[in-house]
Amino acid sequence: MSFTNSVLYQQIGASPLQSITHPLLTEKGVQLSIKRDDLLHAEISGNKWRKLKHNLLEAEAQQKTHLLSFGGAFSNHIHALAAASYHFKFQATGIIRGEAHYASNPTLSQTQKWGMKLNFVDRKTYRLKEQADYLQQLQQQNPKVYILPEGGTNNLAIPGVADIITELKQQHIGPVDHIFTATGSAGTLAGLISGALQQSPNTQLHGVAVLKNADYLRETIKQLVNKEHQVSWHLHTENHEGGYGKISQALSQFCHQFTQQTQVPIEPVYTGKMFYALWQLIEQNHFPKGTKIVALHTGGLQGLAGLKLLNKFQ
Ligand SMILES: Cc1ncc(COP(=O)(O)O)c(C=O)c1O
Repeated sequence: MSFTNSVLYQQIGASPLQSITHPLLTEKGVQLSIKRDDLLHAEISGNKWRKLKHNLLEAEAQQKTHLLSFGGAFSNHIHALAAASYHFKFQATGIIRGEAHYASNPTLSQTQKWGMKLNFVDRKTYRLKEQADYLQQLQQQNPKVYILPEGGTNNLAIPGVADIITELKQQHIGPVDHIFTATGSAGTLAGLISGALQQSPNTQLHGVAVLKNADYLRETIKQLVNKEHQVSWHLHTENHEGGYGKISQALSQFCHQFTQQTQVPIEPVYTGKMFYALWQLIEQNHFPKGTKIVALHTGGLQGLAGLKLLNKFQ
């Protein structure tokens, strides 16, 4: 039986769209809604499900029974892949950058409970993750394996993310001026651009890069989306707060205050940086009164337990 017939697959539908009230939005006359992809599913949440969906369909079409991917010790992608593998009955392997003692952290201990096998590699080996001969070797070791790239970003990630634009139309929000997302490997931004190209060409798409020196991602996006120049999109590269996983005092404070004021849980590695950047743009009067903005909540809340453990975010 195909996993698409499973109750769970059928249950993962559209994510809710939540209208936000906040003193800053009222003062500036800006309308903000949050597309709550964090609520898509308790374990396969956020943009992870969007990017995985068509990859899982392809794995099944190719009669692959084992999913393999790459990530850091607190990776949201590895966490979601392990959950999806468990629920949809694939075997799973995570190739993890770092040492074996990470196996007991909250992210990775959960992935093992879901049955994922972990293979810890040093940085040098990890860097081979995109090299054809290394991937071919992994494939030859296990012909039933379907390999997903780090972060789950590949061509098949695009249509799943583009569904967000379709859902927004069905949720009758009317014309949206801007959509914001956090950006790591850029698959989510590319998917939004692709969806907007087909269905909402006047909407501007924004990615807030959570890592330093992210300019190279523009090329990734051009490779992932045909005719990307036909919509207006912008990669914000100055809001990384020091680099990937770096959490400034100001960012930390913002995240706590944001959650307190809106009751929407966020974390400081992805969604926190995106909302912090958006808030600064609103404060600086970047948007005229009446502007309608949608921010994508890409999930990642599982990472909070690890950040607490490392004393990086209390
Ligand atoms: C919670 C969260 N938000 C946003 C992103 C960024 O998505 P992308 O890698 O597609 O740019 C990621 C990483 O995949 C993530 O884990």
